[in-house]
Amino acid sequence: MTQEVNGTADVDWDALRKTARDAMNRAYAPYSGYPVGVAALVDDGRTVSGCNVENASYGLGLCAECGLVSELQNSGGGRLTHFTCVDKHGEILVPCGRCRQLLYEFGGPGLLLETPAGVLPLSEMLPQAFGPGHLTK
Ligand code: THU
Repeated sequence: MTQEVNGTADVDWDALRKTARDAMNRAYAPYSGYPVGVAALVDDGRTVSGCNVENASYGLGLCAECGLVSELQNSGGGRLTHFTCVDKHGEILVPCGRCRQLLYEFGGPGLLLETPAGVLPLSEMLPQAFGPGHLTK
């Protein structure tokens, strides 16, 4: 077990990426032909994942991150600490803009994302984010 709850140095990104690849292999993407898988660590040590699920009514397709946040909430909630996303080749992929907002809700600015440019906090991938805090001002 190399993963340290809430830590950064010992996080096993390779293992997290493997979980994302496994999820990607379960994607339902017959319309785009673009399967995506995601995985994240939760602050209590859990791992959650998701894959995209498309629909014949194209606009109703669900990004992989939708499944991830649903699993997060339905398995006990908590905060996302580390996140990765892969394409059909298993290569690291950036999450789309809408999904950065989904991730912000459950991980905040400090959530660490594995990106093609290295590991970056969500604050750099979604600057000046709108979030739950705005609603309480
Ligand atoms: N997709 C995701 O699942 N997550 C992202 O962050 C990027 C895009 C999916 C949506 C659609 O099913 C396919 O990739 C092509 O856009």
